[in-house]
Amino acid sequence: SFSSTSARNAIKNVTVIGGGLMGSGIAQVAAQTGHNVTLVDVSSDILKKSQENIAVSLTRVAKKLYKDKPADGEKFINDSKSRLKIDTDASSAVKDADLVVEAIVENLEIKHKLFRTLDEAAPSKTIFASNTSSLGIGDIASVTKRTDRFGGLHFFNPVPVMKLLEVVRTHDTSEETYQAMMEWGKAMGKVCITCKDTPGFVVNRLLVPYIAEAIRMYERGDASARDIDTAMKLGAGYPMGPLELADYVGHDTSHFIIEGWHKKFPDNPLFVPNESVKKLIQEGKLGVKTGEGFYKYKK
Ligand code: 3HC
Repeated sequence: SFSSTSARNAIKNVTVIGGGLMGSGIAQVAAQTGHNVTLVDVSSDILKKSQENIAVSLTRVAKKLYKDKPADGEKFINDSKSRLKIDTDASSAVKDADLVVEAIVENLEIKHKLFRTLDEAAPSKTIFASNTSSLGIGDIASVTKRTDRFGGLHFFNPVPVMKLLEVVRTHDTSEETYQAMMEWGKAMGKVCITCKDTPGFVVNRLLVPYIAEAIRMYERGDASARDIDTAMKLGAGYPMGPLELADYVGHDTSHFIIEGWHKKFPDNPLFVPNESVKKLIQEGKLGVKTGEGFYKYKK
């Protein structure tokens, strides 16, 4: 029956590789929803910082879920934390994994190196997924011997708040792997959409050119940054304006995405990088995380 199939395939042990913004968020939500989670990064210092960020975010989530029941909120936080282990050794951390979600730097060679190692270390049943924003899932999977058990699981920042999960199927992703990823997405409390392995999937393919176009408008001086943001919030109902959102995502991240696409598709005018963003990056103004981007932030 369907239920016994799903019980057999259910993903229980999840290993997340990468303790940055996205990896921490994915690990947190997996722990919150009852999975046994191992979060991996290269240094204990990074992982300590990840744990601190997760603790802050868990408190915000608990406040929302258990408004009038602080004791239950406390239990939720402690239970979630107890399901979350950290490890600096990726190979040992995938030994019992049903699913590995990779959320490391957006560099194909570095991802290849990681997945070659993981492919050797993980059991054959383990499903591999990448949270890449801009690289091809098939291109990443190509160095493994499990391209049928490989797909994309693309989350959005902040992971504990954003309800969407893009589930990406390559030509090689098996039906069983796809179904297991969809079920896991639901178990994570997310709404899943299915997409093909195309640049930016759905959200970023639309969002990245939109932000770049808004920045071009600002560069031409058609309106101030503040007024462009106000316009899209109050005139189009977006929770953040495009320049605010660019600061929030981080200029290094979005610039990397658009530059990669520009190199691959030089004739597409939607994928032309912004000069003002290059300047911000040179000045170390990467957005909210460094305290300044188009706007200034309190650290
Ligand atoms: N952890 C837990 N809870 C959080 C949180 C976090 N990191 N960040 C915000 N929250 C909670 C707050 O506690 C608050 O809860 P409440 O409703 O109980 O008060 C709620 O979310 C709203 O937060 P705020 O009141 O601080 O501020 P906003 O109402 O402006 O919401 C936002 C913040 C959810 C970030 C909203 O502005 C938003 O949706 N912005 C757009 C984000 C977006 O577009 N993300 C996608 C970026 S693209 C991407 O990620 C893809 C990548 O590949 C580049």
